[in-house]
Amino acid sequence: MSDNKVQIFDTTLRDGEQVPGCKLNTEQKLVIAEQLDLLGVDIIEAGFPVSSPGDFKSVEAISKLVKHATVCGLTRSVENDIKVAGEALKFAKKPRIHTGIGTSDSHIKFKFKSNQEAIIERAVKAVSYAKTFVEDVEFYAEDAGRTDNAYLARVCETVIKAGATVLNIPDTTGYCLPNEYGAKIKYLKENVKGIDNVILSCHCHNDLGLATANSIEGVVNGARQIECTINGIGERAGNTALEEVVMILKQHPHLNLNTNIKTEMLYGISQLVSESMGIYSQPNKAIVGANAFAHSSGIHQDGVIKNRETYEIINPKDVGVTESAIVLTARSGRAALAYRAKNIGFELTKLQLDEIYVNFLDFADRKKVVNDSDIHQIIEKSKIYKDIISS
Ligand code: KIV
Ligand code: ZN
Repeated sequence: MSDNKVQIFDTTLRDGEQVPGCKLNTEQKLVIAEQLDLLGVDIIEAGFPVSSPGDFKSVEAISKLVKHATVCGLTRSVENDIKVAGEALKFAKKPRIHTGIGTSDSHIKFKFKSNQEAIIERAVKAVSYAKTFVEDVEFYAEDAGRTDNAYLARVCETVIKAGATVLNIPDTTGYCLPNEYGAKIKYLKENVKGIDNVILSCHCHNDLGLATANSIEGVVNGARQIECTINGIGERAGNTALEEVVMILKQHPHLNLNTNIKTEMLYGISQLVSESMGIYSQPNKAIVGANAFAHSSGIHQDGVIKNRETYEIINPKDVGVTESAIVLTARSGRAALAYRAKNIGFELTKLQLDEIYVNFLDFADRKKVVNDSDIHQIIEKSKIYKDIISS
């Protein structure tokens, strides 16, 4: 693998599906998994096999279906979880077990009522046991974001010795600031023996709206895998949004980091996940929101009509959106009205446009968005309609 390649680990079907009330059935998961494989993700986390017979069945079915990506199953550091995951993944062309345990003081004290040494022992046992089923074992240090770096480095070094191939450093609670998360990855790169033989992975939650920024800081500081979900869905405020990190790396080539994602598929798969789960992104969601390529103020519309790049840093076609939208509202100017009128067959002279624009503003003040049939009506009802159609 090239040193500039960032692996995309999609967890829409595992962490993403932890959104309350958004359970998917096996058929829906298979449709999404097939699209993720075509999208070019490197790893699909298909589920948590021990959690229910339904999840086991889904992971097994996805393992049989997926042609290119690695298929991964989550476990706790519990022998039976790992055995069941090994079983569910046995048909996968490239299987991975994702096992781990909480490493922060809070998790060790309150969740496990344990101590640091006993946690390391459990981690090593889990990785060693997982290795008896698959070669590719990813270890997560849950709540690594709030784990002391020196202890985290010790955990990482020990699980590498036990055979872990990927080390996941989750900011489980979405607590870290980007510079802190980046520094954590850098610290591990510099202080863990054997770190260059494994892949460091970012898994960031969005409680403070920093999941995407943290993941980018992670890869800038040496991580080479990002765990993310379509539309950023997931527990609480969600996970890192796949479409965001992928487009950030694409739009900033100076970072010299790339992915295998076929970006033209992003909008379609976003819609598929929204419809399957019944949760829709907010209109201003980056990349895939309904307004991500819509322009409504007069100043912006005038710029975009002259040259799209004045107000758009991404070509909408690059993410599968057919074109930028010029939305007509009471904030729109003459350029936008002329552009939309032309699209429906009315080429207005400057004088005609001045006349129609007054009627348009009157209408737009009463209606939030003016659509094509409204423009038709405004022109038809105007005093100069006959002039317009005869000119
Ligand atoms: O957020 C988290 O820590 C997780 C782990 C189970 C990987 O989802
Ligand atoms: Zn998570």
